[in-house]
Amino acid sequence: MPGGAILSATNDVSRVEAPVTIKAYLLCAFASFGGIFFGYDSGYISGVMGMDYFIAVITGLDKDTAPEGTFVLPSWKMSLITSILSAGTFFGSIIAGDLADWYGRRVTIILGCIVFIIGVVLQIASAGLGLLVAGRLIAGFGVGFVSAIIILYMSEIAPRKFRGALVSGYQFCITIGLLLAACVDYGTQHYNNSGSYRIPIALQVLWALILAIGLFLLPESPRFFVRTDNSEKAAKVLARLRGQPADSEYIQQELAEIVANHEYELQATPKTTYIGSWLYCFKGSLFEPSSNLRRTILGTSIQMMQQWTGVNFVFYFGTTFFKDLGTIQNPFLISLITTLVNVCSTPISFWTVERFGRRTILIYGAAGMLVCEFIVAIVGVTDGQNQNAVRAMIAFICIYIAFFASTWGPGAWVVIGEIYPLPIRSRGVALSTSSNWLWNCIIAVITPYMVGTDKGNLGAKVFFIWGSLCTCCLVYAYFLIPETKGLTLEQVDRMLEETTPRTSAKWVPHSTFAADMGFVDNDAAEKGSIEHKV
Ligand code: BGC
Repeated sequence: MPGGAILSATNDVSRVEAPVTIKAYLLCAFASFGGIFFGYDSGYISGVMGMDYFIAVITGLDKDTAPEGTFVLPSWKMSLITSILSAGTFFGSIIAGDLADWYGRRVTIILGCIVFIIGVVLQIASAGLGLLVAGRLIAGFGVGFVSAIIILYMSEIAPRKFRGALVSGYQFCITIGLLLAACVDYGTQHYNNSGSYRIPIALQVLWALILAIGLFLLPESPRFFVRTDNSEKAAKVLARLRGQPADSEYIQQELAEIVANHEYELQATPKTTYIGSWLYCFKGSLFEPSSNLRRTILGTSIQMMQQWTGVNFVFYFGTTFFKDLGTIQNPFLISLITTLVNVCSTPISFWTVERFGRRTILIYGAAGMLVCEFIVAIVGVTDGQNQNAVRAMIAFICIYIAFFASTWGPGAWVVIGEIYPLPIRSRGVALSTSSNWLWNCIIAVITPYMVGTDKGNLGAKVFFIWGSLCTCCLVYAYFLIPETKGLTLEQVDRMLEETTPRTSAKWVPHSTFAADMGFVDNDAAEKGSIEHKV
């Protein structure tokens, strides 16, 4: 390690993380603001595409003179406008993994905000399909940068006991973003000028500016500095994050553990080419829970499963679904209610994710969701036209959303931030995030064909599909999700090596990497720590 820093290492597993001040918590919590970005950006477009002024701009038609039934956005344009963002986010999040390793987590997020603002400016300037699509593609790259790296950054700076709750704060911000988008769309939908769509689009610049300025003031992740062999800077930022002096024993011990874990991982990491280093994310056996391959599959599949729960069916197509039920007076209001349930139930996870753990809430959450989904499907096919039956369906859709918001919504993001070892962490989180966007896009593209009245016309039967997919989520969580609560990221690494997902919850840390790597003099073991020159 350059600089020959003196680190005080420990062999006491309870002392591998420094105590944290309130100010330090607030610092970590700010990063969750990035969720507003994610939520708002995926939420605003569905409302905009329903606005008369926007339809006129994109199609060139005049509502008053167009023949009956023709004043609509053609499906291919709708699909292009919606999915081009996910295409951008998909590639953006993959590229961001590399940038975060080369230039730092913080810089990559700020860069994401700048790219995003450029994309938004193009969209504001647009008065036709071409520039709008180009703008959404560029903005998508920015969202990809931000959505992948915020999770990485937050997981790396958060104190272990509240890491789950803090990352759940990110999910909370996603839900607020979705709600804000619905409200802004609602407010401008009847404007008979370009403000109807330009205002919802332009507002996004504000979220990007707040995030970029905030991150400019926040410290870089100490784990990035350890990765780039700069232990002095790592000590400095850790001190800021924990609100303790850099030379305090606690900061030194936490740092020693991060350094020791990194060195331990590096011993197993081959020196290789750029492509080889990507391939390293897929190395190892499928049957070994701690292999890189298993972790990459776990991270990408948990995000796929999160999309399989069907939640975005309610958020993207809820209005149309409720309208097609025929008995609903104000489908927009019902959509607003589901969005509100989403916002209000997410904070439950701040407590449950730390109290019961990631694995537990994912198992129970999938069980709760699948029961609700099958009830909605059964009620829908047996008595779908009856007012009371429709009310019951809406109630169960709301309970289903509450289950999602308090379990799989935050849970999937928490898990991907925790399961990767440092050498492949940024790429692993990036791949996992891109899987979220890929499946988000696939579901957005195929769902209209399943439920469209002129296509599959499944109606409430579509909930049999979501219920069955949620059953897969339950089985998946039971067999494959490890318990990571309360452990440092370095302890998670060790736990994965020593347990299987089903036995993981019982695992307790028993030694430190610092001790195993010889950073601790065993004669001084009773004293708990010793200075070690690295
Ligand atoms: C999901 C999004 C979803 C949102 C709803 C997120 O965790 O990744 O696809 O729209 O939750 O709150």
